[in-house]
Amino acid sequence: MRFQPLDKLINLHEGYSRQFKIDNLQLLLLEHLGEYYVLEAYCPHRSHPLAEADIDGGLIRCPLHQYAFSLTDGKLLHATEERCRNLRLFTVAYEGNEIGTLLEE
Ligand code: FES
Repeated sequence: MRFQPLDKLINLHEGYSRQFKIDNLQLLLLEHLGEYYVLEAYCPHRSHPLAEADIDGGLIRCPLHQYAFSLTDGKLLHATEERCRNLRLFTVAYEGNEIGTLLEE
């Protein structure tokens, strides 16, 4: 695994949400209630941008069809139409003053 830096820690703040294109991945880095999350940037249901999603009670809820996923393990917890796969979460990692994730070599 290799460390992939995304941003400097000093740039993060409550409500921070920023999307990054790394290789063929679209990643979303979020700060919510002092916790940091790195996840895929588009909803597994029909690819709506999750930068517009609501976060509440450990869930991220896509605004397009209200599908909800756990921010702990990415599990699909609520679906209004056909089920979809779980949300892909990435490890949050740090190196020096940077926050990022770990990607396959
Ligand atoms: S695209 Fe996200 S819930 Fe349908």
